[in-house]
Amino acid sequence: MKRVITYGTFDLLHYGHINLLRRAKERGDYLIVALSTDEFNWNEKQKKCYFKYQQRKTLLEAIRYVDLVIPETCWEQKKTDIHEYHIDTFVIGDDWKGKFDFLKDEGAEVVYLSRTPEISTTDIKMNLAKHEEENPAGSRKN
Ligand code: CTP
Repeated sequence: MKRVITYGTFDLLHYGHINLLRRAKERGDYLIVALSTDEFNWNEKQKKCYFKYQQRKTLLEAIRYVDLVIPETCWEQKKTDIHEYHIDTFVIGDDWKGKFDFLKDEGAEVVYLSRTPEISTTDIKMNLAKHEEENPAGSRKN
């Protein structure tokens, strides 16, 4: 059985995430998602999630491509996860291109998949905020 792992925040799950997860699963038989915890996001990426860890985890677990969700709590765990979970392939979007090549030394294949254009959680948040600014709730008929 070929085991694949990917890492990320997956907040406000969108079709770019689904595309990534589908292609990750196609690389093997068993897909693990290491999901960034709220603390890791805030402390290390200065990202505040809209959905809490448990909510993001529940959403991911409902996706047919995902077999297991584990917490991502620090940058260093990638090296140990590869051994602990017997990983063959590490997959991530190409916004991280080259950043995780060192995982080859742990025996994993490292694959960067092209991002789906024109969608990101940050964009969704910004577009919603802009929409609200232009159409404040009080001005709506419904
Ligand atoms: N991803 C992708 N295509 C997109 C958005 C994300 O392939 N349009 C991938 C990322 O490259 C990563 C995974 O999905 O491998 C999780 O990305 P994440 O950072 O959680 O999502 P983003 O939408 O990029 O969120 P943000 O704007 O907060 O960075």
